[in-house]
Amino acid sequence: MFAYRFTVAFLNSPILSRLILGTLRRVRPIAILLGDYYVTSHAHVTEVLSRTADFTVHDALQPGMPWGPFLLTTDWSEVHQRDRNILRSFACNTDPGRIDAIVHESCVKSLQSESLGGEAFRLDFAAEYAEPAVLAVIERYFGVRPLNGRAEDMKQALRLLSSHIMAQAPPDSDIRTRTDEAIAVLTLHIGSEVTQAIERARRGDLKPGPENTVLERMALRFAAGGEPPWFTPDWIRRFLTGLLATAAGTMVRASVHIVDRLLADGEAMTKTRRAATALSADVDLGNRNFPSLAPGTGAQHAFETNSRGIFEQHLLEALRFRPMLPLLVRHCPRDVVLGEGSAFERTIKGGSAVKVGLVSGMFDPAVFRVPGSFLDNSEGLRPGASYLHFGFGPRYCFGTYVARIVTCEIVRLVLQAGTLDRSVGRAGRPIYEAAAVRHLVLTVTPDAGG
Ligand code: HEM
Repeated sequence: MFAYRFTVAFLNSPILSRLILGTLRRVRPIAILLGDYYVTSHAHVTEVLSRTADFTVHDALQPGMPWGPFLLTTDWSEVHQRDRNILRSFACNTDPGRIDAIVHESCVKSLQSESLGGEAFRLDFAAEYAEPAVLAVIERYFGVRPLNGRAEDMKQALRLLSSHIMAQAPPDSDIRTRTDEAIAVLTLHIGSEVTQAIERARRGDLKPGPENTVLERMALRFAAGGEPPWFTPDWIRRFLTGLLATAAGTMVRASVHIVDRLLADGEAMTKTRRAATALSADVDLGNRNFPSLAPGTGAQHAFETNSRGIFEQHLLEALRFRPMLPLLVRHCPRDVVLGEGSAFERTIKGGSAVKVGLVSGMFDPAVFRVPGSFLDNSEGLRPGASYLHFGFGPRYCFGTYVARIVTCEIVRLVLQAGTLDRSVGRAGRPIYEAAAVRHLVLTVTPDAGG
């Protein structure tokens, strides 16, 4: 239980992860600690994440994803690419606009229900604002309705599931029992959603169109036939569960960590609010400037020099100081040399776990010239590929086309709602259930004349 508690504290505390991984990068960028390898410089992090045959995922990640094989646990590169391509084919170019509209509607509704007509009001940013927006995307874009028809049940199950991916509690613990139950119930629920969608598609009750949910697009394709034999209802269930599991907790955690960081740094908050205002002015004029859907989706970030790109960079900067995930994990199946030819060249022993420091990589002065500054203005826009929040290389986050839109809109609207302060006491800091965020209570003071 101690190891689990430490892992959770490490994931949730910006200070602990930055201190440990940052110190390792300065002292020994490829190090062994308690039998695991830690890789902490930007160059070595990107090397590990690019060498997918030498640093594999199945053994490292499958225990956190017990509902069955999914993109993120597939090592065989042909199958991985094949699955990524078919997943991409279920996204369409109008999706960013549609996702943005869903989030916008949910966030405005949450703000209106808390607002006190110009007076300062209390907002649980995590539970009453970000989480409902993410749940709305899951229902209206991905096409999975809440468990038992109850948003609270769905939120709870997704929290346990996303936390389990990041850290697995010991089998005899209370949280593990609840997690196992939640995963079993969610698996049955998603299986039944898939079956019902396929039946509707077979009956001709579903018409193909851009307004179809991701599940409906999958069901229509299956019902039409002619797909390869591996494209089965079970594949759809496993991949849809995987998308929900990787989407839900990550977007809530990222949004909360961004706002938590901005609250901790007044200057960063001022700059980011200014960027939000510039984006809002463009949005009001109808210039939404959504990033286009890259082939294969999740292509490494490239910031556009419009108001959206600039605002996005502010969010990724805030996240650099308070990452959604401080490290990734890999398995090394055989002896391999890392950092070959460099001063830090080292053989990684086969059978080892390799911890890949995203946060230390994003504080590496070799890439971030003044790492401690929030947007080093002398550098201009930092190249998108320097940021490691979404991973790197062939496994670069598939869902960036969703995550970028959702977090931008969640944060933009709350910054535009007024001046944000932490609520007094413990509630004004992020409160977690294991590695999933549950609450962050803010006071929102609408700007005079706003
Ligand atoms: C701010 C939110 C998010 C963050 C910070 C994030 C981060 C990441 C990271 C770091 C990876 C690489 C994992 C690794 O290499 O071990 C990844 C992969 C992945 N993410 Fe995300 N993610 C986010 C949102 C999403 C969303 C919304 C979805 C689904 C729509 C999603 C789906 C995936 C999938 C399917 C993979 C596996 C890609 C592959 O193996 O090819 N993520 N994500």
